[in-house]
Amino acid sequence: MTLTSLWQPFSLGRVELSHRLAMAPMTRNRANADGTPGELVARYCGQRATLGLLITEGAQPSADGQGYANTPGIYTPEHIAGWRKVSDAVHAGGGALFIQLMHAGRISHPDNTPHGRQPVAPSAISAGVDIATASGRQQVPVPRELSVQDIAAVIAEFRHAAASAIAAGADGVEIHGANGYLLHQFLSPNSNRRSDAYGGSVENRSRFVIEVARAVAEEIGADRVGIRLSPSMPLGGLEEGDVADVRAQYRHLVGELAGLNLAYLHLHHVGDDELLQSFREAWPTAVLVVRYGRTREQLAADIDAGFADIAPVGRLALANPDVVERLRAEAPMNELDPATIYGGGESGYTDYPVLANAN
Ligand SMILES: Cc1cc2nc3c(=O)[nH]c(=O)nc-3n(C[C@H](O)[C@H](O)[C@H](O)COP(=O)(O)O)c2cc1C
Repeated sequence: MTLTSLWQPFSLGRVELSHRLAMAPMTRNRANADGTPGELVARYCGQRATLGLLITEGAQPSADGQGYANTPGIYTPEHIAGWRKVSDAVHAGGGALFIQLMHAGRISHPDNTPHGRQPVAPSAISAGVDIATASGRQQVPVPRELSVQDIAAVIAEFRHAAASAIAAGADGVEIHGANGYLLHQFLSPNSNRRSDAYGGSVENRSRFVIEVARAVAEEIGADRVGIRLSPSMPLGGLEEGDVADVRAQYRHLVGELAGLNLAYLHLHHVGDDELLQSFREAWPTAVLVVRYGRTREQLAADIDAGFADIAPVGRLALANPDVVERLRAEAPMNELDPATIYGGGESGYTDYPVLANAN
């Protein structure tokens, strides 16, 4: 098993990559209470710099955008100073940093935010799911429907967050349009029941995502912006309809986004390869594809099939700071410790051993 196609260089926007792996975004809940990433986050990311492109865990662009406790923010001077340390650590190891901009929308709870407010969403419909809070798992409440003026304000928050990421020394941002969070909530007909310009038709449900992407690209340059999508991913109570509905929604959306010339399209893919092929044909730049739970033998499959240029890895990178070296050397991997994934300190975060001192 040589995974040959992983070892080819690639230019992604302004970034030169020496291989085709990357770190997929993973929430680890280890920022300070105010959302500032501290030294520990910098160490964790710095340890993984050989992954080349590091896409960070979701970072909220505003207090309203926070979904879970101790996730990082990217909107205050303190956040920028914290992320500066992360950028420096990643650059010192030869990597590039893309901060994922994640607005959780209705997947939030007042107990998890600094202002304790009701979450916001396209429509006042609860996701009906439980999420972790300081006092145990709680059902998410019915969110407040964003007005058209509120939507403009959220787009401005994304703009500000993108500028803040660049001010912190990041190489770019990834807009989180996947996995059931705010942007995805606008796309999905069961979470978006609006009757204005942001709801109803495929075009209207796509509008918010396109406006966010356009604003962020205008702010920092399209070649520093990626976007993540997950067509038909049933997370956070979303149901996007049958295959034909999903294809219509995402072909329109990806077609419109393609015109922005972003640095990349990142798909958390759930299996419609015909749709994937049509994205590949429509998209002018890099395509990143993650499928949940690939084995190491499967990591080059989407590149070999012509679907993808880059194969980001999630949990393998979480548990193996030197996952690139281990794949090259065909060495065994550390096991992931499920107990230390979300929250806590160094344990299960910065103390996974590298090959030289693995047992
Ligand atoms: C602990 C954990 C946290 C995650 N957090 C995020 C996140 O913040 N943003 C996101 O887009 N995806 C998130 N994901 C999804 C991963 O980016 C990735 O798509 C998924 O883990 C599948 O890849 P894997 O099988 O290589 O782990 C998370 C996954 C895990 C395991």
